[in-house]
Amino acid sequence: MTEPTILAIESSCDETSAAVIRGGKVLSNIIATQAVHEKYGGVVPELASRAHQQNIIPVVAQALSTANVTKNELSAVAFTRGPGLLGALLVGSSFAKSFALGLNIPLIDVNHMQAHIMAHFIDDPKPNFPFLCLTVSGGHTQVVLVKDHLDMEIIGQTTDDAVGEAFDKTAKMLGLPYPGGPMLDKTAAQGNPKAFAFPVGNMPGYDFSFSGIKTSVLYFLKDKTKDNPNFVQENLADICASVQYTLIKTLLKKVVLAAKDLGIKEVAIAGGVSANSGLRQTLQEYAGKYGWNVYIPAFQYCTDNAGMIAMTAHYQFLKGDFADQYVSPEPRMKF
Ligand code: KG4
Ligand code: ZN
Repeated sequence: MTEPTILAIESSCDETSAAVIRGGKVLSNIIATQAVHEKYGGVVPELASRAHQQNIIPVVAQALSTANVTKNELSAVAFTRGPGLLGALLVGSSFAKSFALGLNIPLIDVNHMQAHIMAHFIDDPKPNFPFLCLTVSGGHTQVVLVKDHLDMEIIGQTTDDAVGEAFDKTAKMLGLPYPGGPMLDKTAAQGNPKAFAFPVGNMPGYDFSFSGIKTSVLYFLKDKTKDNPNFVQENLADICASVQYTLIKTLLKKVVLAAKDLGIKEVAIAGGVSANSGLRQTLQEYAGKYGWNVYIPAFQYCTDNAGMIAMTAHYQFLKGDFADQYVSPEPRMKF
């Protein structure tokens, strides 16, 4: 079959998403964001799971109708196997397994972190192999050497918190509403990134550590609010800009090192934090400074979406890489 038509499902965290891809072209990408977590200031796994159950059928129906594809035209059903929240992954995987069984078509299990990188193959320009990808999300921070569509090697990663967590936890300490990362980004736009200095993590090789900056922000705030209880309100934009600046510097320092060591000038970013305006802008500046070709995904393909799962599934389909009905979710799935 030259033009496989695949339905893909993403349910690893708090977005229920379905997409349809035909011949490598994404025809629809429907995302239902779960507002239920807002009042808790973070994702509540049990509530995520229940919201996925409510959303999945309407989201799949909308993905098929938007793509103008009927279920009988499908060549395969793909789903996120991991990493992610077990209860959330179970909803997508159970749905995909039943759907594939009912239609008697193959099932494709996709790694969510590989899929974030594969989002770069949805639109042009596409990176050339080999390229480096800085994958930054709420649960992961990785420097990945991408040798081919499905051939990737993690050469550096966080040894503690993910950078998305550092954004979210700082935002929470500053009293910004959930989701913290995008709010911190927005507030930082009005601030001075050099107003306050925070320590830059110093790990060997291409690895990262983000727990130190979180603690230093906590002590900084404790110290400053002792004399002035309004310190945060008065300096909010400057604090956000300074923390964001430090996080971006920490991330890109390792990318610069890896690019230099490996002699690679194709550099991409992926994952939820790649939506950060400071990171996007700094990467553009580095393109000029280091002679890199940089690849920044469209906003809709930065945060969790099924379009990226569909793109990965397309290449797995071409390779004949299918799962059977015994496949189960893997919350800590590696690649
Ligand atoms: O990839 P993603 O949607 O989900 C995971 O797989 O984790 O990433 C979510 C993370 C959250 O930590 C969120 O705060 C962060 O991405 N994020 C941002 C921005 N947009 C999303 N962080 C900083 N600036 C943003 N604009
Ligand atoms: Zn993600």
